[in-house]
Amino acid sequence: MSPSVPWSEPAHAKINLFLHVTGRRADGYHLLDSLAVFAGAHDLVEAAAPDDGPPPGASRAASPAGPHLVLDGPFAAPLRADADAGRDNLVLRAARWLAERSGRPNDATLRLEKHLPVASGIGGGSADAAAVLRLLRRRWGLSDGLSIEALAAASVVLGADVPVCVRQRPARMGGIGEQLEPAPEMPGCFMLLANPGVAVSTPAVFRAREEGFTPAAVLPARWPDADALAADLRATRNDLQPPAIALCPPIDTVLAAIAAQPGCLLSRMSGSGATCFGLFASAHDAATAAAAIGREGWWVWSGPMLRDADRS
Ligand code: C5P
Repeated sequence: MSPSVPWSEPAHAKINLFLHVTGRRADGYHLLDSLAVFAGAHDLVEAAAPDDGPPPGASRAASPAGPHLVLDGPFAAPLRADADAGRDNLVLRAARWLAERSGRPNDATLRLEKHLPVASGIGGGSADAAAVLRLLRRRWGLSDGLSIEALAAASVVLGADVPVCVRQRPARMGGIGEQLEPAPEMPGCFMLLANPGVAVSTPAVFRAREEGFTPAAVLPARWPDADALAADLRATRNDLQPPAIALCPPIDTVLAAIAAQPGCLLSRMSGSGATCFGLFASAHDAATAAAAIGREGWWVWSGPMLRDADRS
C-alpha cells in the first residue's frame, strides 16, 4: 500500500472455506451455503482528486469521460481499462453504478494495482469492485447516508460475490451469495494460496457440475483453534472442486502438493478455482510450505487469515 495516497483501499482475496451448492434458481443461478473469509493478500485501489491528474507510475487509459482507470501491478496485463472495456471491467461498472445511484458526476480517477491472479476463485474483480465502492463512498462524502451494510446489500446487482467483498469480513453466504450472516468466531490461523496460472470461467464450472445438491453445513458458534476449524471443515466440501478439476486438471496437482506440506490441516480449492488454499496453525509452516510450492512456478502467497477480531 502506498502511504502517500490517502484515498486507497485494499481488495483482499476472498476464500471460500467451503462451498455447498444447495439448489438452483429458475434463472439458472445456484443457491449456495458458503463460509467466506479474507486473506491478507490483496489488490489495491487508489483514487485521486480529479485535478490531481493521473496517479504516478502508469499511463492514463484513453477514456474521454470519467471515470479514468489506470492499471498496474504483476497481474494487470489481462485486464483492459479503455472506454470500450467499461461494459466488462467491473471496477469501472462499480464506479458508474455508485455515481448514478448517488446522483453525482462520475469523475473518479482510479488506479488498480493488481497483485492477485485474475479469474481465480478468490474474489478478484468482485473484490476490486467492492474496494472501489468503499473508496468512492468515502471520497464522494456518501458515508453519512449510505452504511457499508446498505452498500453491500445493494451491490448484488454488480455480481453475486460483490456484497461479501464490500463487507470484507468473515461471513456465511446464502442465497446466490448475497444473503450474509455472521460467520462463527474464527480462530487465528494461516493460509497458503497457490494458483497454477490457468484462468477458470465461473459460469463454465457451474455448468459442468453434475452432482445433485448438498445440504447446508452445521457449524458451531466459534472455533477455539485452527485444528478445531479444520476438523469441522473436513465434514464440508467445495462442490465446485470436482467440475473445476475436470476442466483444469492442474488444480488436482496443486491440491496434492499443498496437502503434502508439513503442518497442512486442510487443502481445498476456493470458489470456482483455480486458486487452492492450505490451512495452517503455524505461520512458519505456512511460509515454509509456500517456499516449497513456489518452486513449481505457481503463484503462491502465505500469511494470516483475517478475522473480525483483527480489525477493531
Ligand atoms: O454474479 P457473477 O457475475 O459473479 O456470476 C458469474 C456467473 O457464475 C453467473 O453468470 C452464473 O453463471 C454463475 N453463478 C451461479 N450461481 C451463483 C453465482 C454465480 O450460477 N450463486
